Amino acid sequence: MLELKIELAPQRKEKPPADKLGFGKIFTDHMFVMDYSVEQGWHNAKIKPYEPLELDPSVMVFHYGQAIFEGMKAFRTKEDRVVLFRPEKYISRMTNSAKKLCIPEFDEAFVIKAIKTLVDTERDWVYAEEGTALYIRPFIIATDPYLGVRPSNTYKFMVILSPVGAYYSEGFNPVKIFITDEFTRAAKNGLGDVKTPANYAASLYAGEKAKQMGFTQVLWLDPVEKKYIEEVGTMNVFFKIGDEVVTPVLHGSILPGVTRDSVIQVLRNWGIPVVERTISVDELFEAHAAGNLKESFGTGTAAVISPVGLLRHGDREAVINEGKTGELASRLFDFITGMQYGKSEDLFGWIA
Ligand code: COI
Repeated sequence: MLELKIELAPQRKEKPPADKLGFGKIFTDHMFVMDYSVEQGWHNAKIKPYEPLELDPSVMVFHYGQAIFEGMKAFRTKEDRVVLFRPEKYISRMTNSAKKLCIPEFDEAFVIKAIKTLVDTERDWVYAEEGTALYIRPFIIATDPYLGVRPSNTYKFMVILSPVGAYYSEGFNPVKIFITDEFTRAAKNGLGDVKTPANYAASLYAGEKAKQMGFTQVLWLDPVEKKYIEEVGTMNVFFKIGDEVVTPVLHGSILPGVTRDSVIQVLRNWGIPVVERTISVDELFEAHAAGNLKESFGTGTAAVISPVGLLRHGDREAVINEGKTGELASRLFDFITGMQYGKSEDLFGWIA
């Protein structure tokens, strides 16, 4: 039976004001660490003071990228409770990521309990201000000091915490998106459907090129035909076409976003039809020309909902909803964040 040891930091860092948090720049006083070896399995689980790691330069994660991560959030509700949003869903996705990256599985219930204990230890870092959260970053890295290519025999599972404000500097304003048919993010049966650093590394070059051209992010098409919509930046993507909401079906290269799943369930609960299917880029521009492309938004844990105001593909451009935040995007953002802050009813039992 795994035991969780707790070693408290002798001193606490100063906490910046809520409006200076940004995203992922500040880290709390403690972290969770657990080791894996073939002989002992997962062991040595502890919460300890946040500090740099000492690792041999040869450890496998540095060379071949055998690593996975998650991103979830804790919130302070209006009743002053500190709660997590859908922790089981995130940690079960982490198990799927572990399988695909040949990383040994772990006890999900133990990990969730450890995260709750860590968040409770750091509860003073959970700000009460609207728009803030405590971002939780669990991750696993391969730690064999070895340069041969094979799965590692040793790993480190860690959880660090970062108090955050808005993810995009634009805040909840519509972003401009460049649809690339030059670069691709992931291929079917590759790594696209799991949360591993490689996917984010693969997105950087195209993302930077889009920024140089004045766009916030890229929209990824399928890697084979370069015809079908996959994801936007690091987020899943939704379109309101006529009275129906559509989002790309999960077919092996798209990350099964927890916010994506939450949005689908909330929309269906509201009686709004949602269809998961393939969506071609031509269909989008045709719908736009016919006046039927009403809204578009990305969904992700960091930003929750990120409205899309403009799509560019080659020399075609579609301004969506006059470049303004759509009604549905606002309603979803308010409802989901409302649940997280304990202001709207926890309809689905997502608050833990
Ligand atoms: C998200 O939560 O939307 C992301 O995937 C971005 C994160 C890697 C910072």
